[in-house]
Amino acid sequence: MLGGRIIFFFVGLFVFSSANAGADEECAKLITTRCEVCHYKTRICESLGKKSKSVWKRTVGNMVSYGAQLNKDEQQQLVDCLSGPSTDITDLCGK
Ligand code: HEC
Repeated sequence: MLGGRIIFFFVGLFVFSSANAGADEECAKLITTRCEVCHYKTRICESLGKKSKSVWKRTVGNMVSYGAQLNKDEQQQLVDCLSGPSTDITDLCGK
């Protein structure tokens, strides 16, 4: 019985950590597939660490009004990645 619980714990841990990595990866993918349609990521990388979350939210909203193809969840996800420290975004920008 105890063995079953231990296995359950490890499976849970694995699912949790891979889900996290996936979300981060998703952000870089969103930038290269949805944002770079119109301009290089340098436009985005330049502003990393300079904009607060609410300012990023406005920027992403502006891009959507220009025609960026992002649903509400994707917009929220990007705002979180761009305003928070995200290794995936810093890797993408080479910072
Ligand atoms: C439909 C075309 C289009 C798409 C797609 C697009 N942008 Fe833009 N973006 C623009 C244009 C046009 C400008 C320059 C006008 C301006 O500064 O508002 C710009 C400027 C910017 C700037 C610099 C100006 C500022 O407000 O800081 C940032 C940052 C930016 N975009 C981020 C993004 C992000 C993040 C995405 C993906 C979610 C994205 N863009 C997708 C058209 C687009």
